[in-house]
Amino acid sequence: MCVIVAKKKSFLLILNHIFKDNKQIILLMSEEKKTKRRDFIFTASYALGAVGVASAVWPLIDQMNPDASVKALASTEVDISGIDKGQSITVLWRGKPVFIKRRTQEEIQKARQVDLKELPDPEKDEDRAKNPEWLVMLGMCTHLGCVPLGNKGEYDGWFCPCHGSHYDTSGRIRKGPAPTNLEVPKYEFINKSTIKIG
Ligand code: FES
Repeated sequence: MCVIVAKKKSFLLILNHIFKDNKQIILLMSEEKKTKRRDFIFTASYALGAVGVASAVWPLIDQMNPDASVKALASTEVDISGIDKGQSITVLWRGKPVFIKRRTQEEIQKARQVDLKELPDPEKDEDRAKNPEWLVMLGMCTHLGCVPLGNKGEYDGWFCPCHGSHYDTSGRIRKGPAPTNLEVPKYEFINKSTIKIG
């Protein structure tokens, strides 16, 4: 009889122990669930916050983009159909003079025969003129920004009278204080008679 009672007691103790452990497991599981829920709430709040900040900042960023009139000023289209061989015109682009020269065969040959080793700022004529007949470049001396004169100077290109810089028929510096060639801006031929600068 005593043995049966003892066995029953220890069985009850084991059961109690098992249920106690289960309780702890259930408590742990519910803690984990709470943490996950809390993490989800934080993540959702951050995401909503980021969307809120982005939508508040977007109008400020958007207003910094140039409007259509500014974009139009950034480029200019020039009709070149009336320019004869050997002639050049000067147009304004972004407030700067741009020379558009239609070169003769002789001028092209002169520009292409030059040994690059002779040049202070070596650059092939082929890399400066997309179409050999047309030269497009900023009309500003690279020394201090004076406007050079066309068909002048020792190289039959441009001459800057301010301090005596000589440019050749490709607009490359050959002599004088200017450190670099006349700058070629971004341009493209829209069709045979129109150039878009910028
Ligand atoms: S600005 Fe042209 S040489 Fe000085």
